[in-house]
Order: sequence, then structure tokens, then C-alpha cells
Amino acid sequence: MRFEGKTAIVTAAASGICRATALRLAREGAKVAAIDVSPAVEETVAQIRASGGSAEAYILDVTDRSHLAETLDRAEARLGPCDVLVNGVGRSSVGKGGGEFCDSNPEDWAEVLDLSLTSQMLICRRIVPGMRTRGYGRVVNISSVSWLMPTPRFADYAAAKAGVVGFTRVLAIEVARHGVTVNAVSPGPIETAATAKHPPETRARVEATIPMGHYGEPEDVAAAILFLASDEARFITAQNIVVGGGRGIV
Ligand SMILES: NC(=O)c1ccc[n+]([C@@H]2O[C@H](COP(=O)([O-])OP(=O)(O)OC[C@H]3O[C@@H](n4cnc5c(N)ncnc54)[C@H](O)[C@@H]3O)[C@@H](O)[C@H]2O)c1
Repeated sequence: MRFEGKTAIVTAAASGICRATALRLAREGAKVAAIDVSPAVEETVAQIRASGGSAEAYILDVTDRSHLAETLDRAEARLGPCDVLVNGVGRSSVGKGGGEFCDSNPEDWAEVLDLSLTSQMLICRRIVPGMRTRGYGRVVNISSVSWLMPTPRFADYAAAKAGVVGFTRVLAIEVARHGVTVNAVSPGPIETAATAKHPPETRARVEATIPMGHYGEPEDVAAAILFLASDEARFITAQNIVVGGGRGIV
């Protein structure tokens, strides 16, 4: 029960890594505001409540600036000031047919950067000042190994995810004296909705780049996120933990 009495805000909580994170935070005592653009976030919350945990669902497109602040304010008013923020939304343009950079168009990059980087910055801008005032906070921003291990067609995503780590490091040192830690987690290939679409030849090619030889599970990433969000990690800030079975070593 490392999060007893704590309020956690988790974005992308309807699926994959952040769903696993929301479930585990609740299991360890946190009150969870589960945010997602998909109504399936209600299922995450239903599962938490069925296990005796406390959670509320908020349906929000994190790129919708007009509703972002209002939703975060509502969540904090209902569940209490945010102690733990897990910023999980991100995706590449590959699933939408994005090609190599020389054939790409700036509208697609703008969408990926908005979704995967700017949204995390906007949420931190809204939540972290309160943490700084209260003298306590844990922020975990989700990056990806894609910026450590370049993959063709992922230029916009790699730029956004490298940006997440750069942003995380600067924010971390700005608030370090106020009891707030800010860290990043960079997953390697994980079994989620996005990677379930990988055809067998893609899966075999990707697995060949993972020293452990297989994709990870959402719970593997959730474990690292919970560690960074816990008080055990109180002296750790401005770091990036790669959860990738050895992929992405530099
Ligand atoms: N799965 C992997 O292999 C992998 C690897 C590296 C990094 N990541 C990163 O981990 C994070 C989570 O990925 P996942 O694979 O668990 O994802 P997922 O596809 O399982 O779930 C993503 C969730 O984000 C939600 N979402 C999408 N756009 C949104 C928006 N505009 N506003 C609010 N919610 C939105 C979706 O509805 C979905 O529930 C992402 O940032 C992703 O880039 C994943």
C-alpha cells in the first residue's frame, strides 16, 4: 500500500501500459483519476472499484486545450490535490500511414508532437505548480526507446519522445528543491493494442533487436512507473528508466 492516501492522475488509462499503471496504483491504495479519450476508460475504473479501489473516469482528448484545464481541476476537486501524475499519451504517425521523413508532411508531425509532447507539457504546467506549492509531487512522463534506437518512419515520434526526456530533465531540476521529482520511463516493445497489430515478420524483426528476445508486458512498465512514483524513489529525479529487455542501450 505504497500509495495509501495519495491521489494519482493517469492519462491514457483506458489501455495498455497506463491502464496497468492505474490498476496497480489503485491496488496500492491511490485514488485514481483515469483520463482517456476513449470511453473504455470507464472499464478501467469499473475494474478498480470491483477490487475495492477508488477511481473516477474522465473522458478527455488531451490535445483539447479548452477542456484540459477544466478536466484536471475537476479531478483534483473530486479526488484531492494530485500527488502522482503519470503522463502516458503518445503515438507515432506510422499507424496512420506515415512514411519516411523525406516523404512526410508537417501536419502529421504537428499532430504527433502535439499529442506526445505538448500535451504532457500542458498537463505538467497545470499540475506541477500545485505540487511545488504543497512541497510534494511525483511526475512520471512516458517516453519510448525509439529516440535511443532510431527506427525508419519514426522521425516525428522519436523527436517527440526525445523531447519528453529533455523536458522532464529541465522541469526536474527546476522543482527539485520543492519535494517534487520528475522522471521519465522509456518502454521498449510492449504487448499492447498498438503492437498487437504487428504482423509476424515485423514481430520477428523487432524481437531480434531485444536482447531478452521478446516483447514486455504492460505490467513490466507499470512496475518501473510505480517505483519512480513511490517514496522509495524520493532521491531520484531527472532520470529516464528504459524498460526494454535490454533494447535501446547507448
Ligand atoms: N506499447 C509499446 O510498445 C510502447 C513502446 C514505447 C512507448 N510506448 C508509449 O507508452 C504510452 C502508452 O502506450 P500503449 O502502447 O500502452 O498505448 P495503447 O495504445 O494501449 O493505449 C493508448 C491510450 O491512449 C489513449 N489516447 C490516445 N490519444 C489520446 C488523446 N488525444 N487523449 C487522451 N487519450 C488518448 C487511447 O484511447 C488509448 O486508451 C504511449 O506514450 C506510447 O508512446 C509504448
